[in-house]
Amino acid sequence: MDGNGRWARARGLPRIRGHQAGVEALRDIVTACAEWDIPYVTLYSFSTENWARPRAEVDFLMGLLQRYLRHELDVLQKNNVRLLTIGSSEQMPEPVRRDLAAAMQSTAGNTGLTLTLALSYGSRAEIVEAVRALAREAAAGVVCPDDIDENMVAARLQTSGTPDPDLLIRTSGEMRISNFLLWQIAYTELWVTPTYWPDFRRAELLRALEDYAGRERRFGKVEAP
Ligand code: FPP
Repeated sequence: MDGNGRWARARGLPRIRGHQAGVEALRDIVTACAEWDIPYVTLYSFSTENWARPRAEVDFLMGLLQRYLRHELDVLQKNNVRLLTIGSSEQMPEPVRRDLAAAMQSTAGNTGLTLTLALSYGSRAEIVEAVRALAREAAAGVVCPDDIDENMVAARLQTSGTPDPDLLIRTSGEMRISNFLLWQIAYTELWVTPTYWPDFRRAELLRALEDYAGRERRFGKVEAP
């Protein structure tokens, strides 16, 4: 969800107003995905690097997340959305963790869209944790190093149980991945738009999905005869 700061600056507003406007986009995109029967959406909401932002901005984002969880819970329930998170949740402030746990618990039985918020998330750190888990299992003699395969690594990532993404959308025109789902996006299709996140709405999401639907995914193989 990139470009909140630039959206605000272009309007002569403080950065936090961009984050506020970003919540409007979040609401529209999540509702559209639920209505269109999209089974999984993962939103890069706060990276491990984002902790280095000014304290006031970090505090504002944490408060915004809490308000989102409290105000939108009804909307999530109505749309049958199940909420999950990935990332180092232990780094999140205690009150935010409590609200996240409550929202996850009360949506756990929902069977529609699975909405995963990546919070205090970094893909390399996630991979390191999976490697540590496997190393511990090998040291304990539970796993033989030569048996370790891609499925075993994937099963120890925080995304285990969620399929790899079909489509990755990056707003605000940056041509980089920024430590997001590095393992999981090996064969993911990419869509980069110059639109700043607060202006990203369902009409543009639909264009991205239509473009995606016209692509041929070969997963490294040759075209079917
Ligand atoms: C990146 O834009 C955006 C963020 C670091 C925060 C994203 C947060 C929201 C959309 C608010 C709602 C989220 C939740 C989970 C309630 P940027 O600040 O890096 O923008 P810039 O690159 O233009 O400076």
